[in-house]
Amino acid sequence: MFAPETYAARRSALARQLDGLIVILGNDNVPMNYAGNVYGFRQDGSFLYYGGLDEPGLALTIDADTGESVLYGHEPTLDDAIWEGPMASLGDRAAAIGIPTTAVPDALEEAVASARHAGRTVHVLPPYRAVHKIRLAKMLDEDASSIQASEPLIDAVIAQRLVKSDEEVAEIEKAVALAKEVHELAMSLAHPGRTEWEIAGAIEGHLAGQGGFPAFPIILTKHGETLHNHASGAVLDAGDLLLIDTGAVVPGTRYASDITRVAPVGGTFSDRQRDVYQIVLDAQTACIEGMAPGVPFRDLHQLAGLTLTRGLQGLGLMTGDAEEAVAAGAHALFMPHGLGHPMGLDVHDMEGLGEDRVGYDDEFQRSDQFGTKYLRFGRRLDAGHVMTVEPGCYFIPALMDVWQREGKHLDFIDYDALSSWRDFGGVRLEDDVLVTDVGFRVLGPEIPKAPEAVETIIRAGASA
Ligand code: GLY
Ligand code: MN
Ligand code: MN
Repeated sequence: MFAPETYAARRSALARQLDGLIVILGNDNVPMNYAGNVYGFRQDGSFLYYGGLDEPGLALTIDADTGESVLYGHEPTLDDAIWEGPMASLGDRAAAIGIPTTAVPDALEEAVASARHAGRTVHVLPPYRAVHKIRLAKMLDEDASSIQASEPLIDAVIAQRLVKSDEEVAEIEKAVALAKEVHELAMSLAHPGRTEWEIAGAIEGHLAGQGGFPAFPIILTKHGETLHNHASGAVLDAGDLLLIDTGAVVPGTRYASDITRVAPVGGTFSDRQRDVYQIVLDAQTACIEGMAPGVPFRDLHQLAGLTLTRGLQGLGLMTGDAEEAVAAGAHALFMPHGLGHPMGLDVHDMEGLGEDRVGYDDEFQRSDQFGTKYLRFGRRLDAGHVMTVEPGCYFIPALMDVWQREGKHLDFIDYDALSSWRDFGGVRLEDDVLVTDVGFRVLGPEIPKAPEAVETIIRAGASA
């Protein structure tokens, strides 16, 4: 956790933007198959931002008119001490986040009722868990399926959380350092005969051993053409291309990382694999180097498409004018997703507050073109933004078949040449990048990415 002053300053800054009563709900444990058997606990990102405490059963109010905050929760009981171990008093936990006032959980309902009775605005964030929808529906006399979240609160939280302070960036760099450890571990295990499950399990175990956990379900597959494919029992064969997209959540503050690398199983890229890898690496390098305050992220997404298109023209898979191809969206056959997304306490930072509210504005609206419509963030970058930059190149037989049948982009795609690429798989490269006052900084320690560096780590794993 950060110092209490950090959380107090964040709450004061938020309070200055609004009036009325702000409610921030912490998350609770979620049952897996019966009430007492729960998933690993995951705190809400906004609660972590304003209240730091990484435990269930808490809520916060911030009175925007007085600036006072209250932490709601249980005092530890004797049963808690017996079953869960000793726990700090609620007052001590509140003090750790700079809050002098505590109350029992039900007092939140009373505080909201009294604010509403007095005609004050009650601001809530959009709930994404059913228990919060039900709780807020009762508090606010609304339908649980259509809770009216506060747009001014959402916008104020987004503005604040999007710009990372130095101490937040330092936490993200720790998360990238953990990601480096597990990516190198996964590369060292990328050998024939291993299963995807074994390698994904090694990643989970390594993170757990450091007090962390994956920032999202691990994507680890020799079918990288399926964008979010999770590990299966598939056995790796020499010549497979293993895509590993994983990130860590750090102990303490719970900031995230999100990194993708691709490993040739056995340690040698084939010529085709190396060619496609290099095209994606060129696209990623161009986009990262283009990052600076004021640059629209959508322009960088288009730059990724252009670099990809030119590279694929070199392989004889695309034809025609590259800029026209990208304007028409033809490159999306190979990269049907966005260039990246903001990252912080949530791996897709604040996606729960509304993707378009985070990533688009009056100047940049979401495109409806296939491919670019999945871009989560199109607006101009600002100093302090942390973005993933993750171009990819995929050969997706189902998509190739539909486009060919529909005769799509015949001026730009050579479907005959593509027929021998159907089992290629996919390549994606992803790093986490800070926008600085003058440009960019790739966060964390360097994670092997040059093809030779990746091959070296894999080969060293064979003799381990
Ligand atoms: N890890 C999913 C993504 O890269 O967005
Ligand atoms: Mn990502
Ligand atoms: Mn990722």
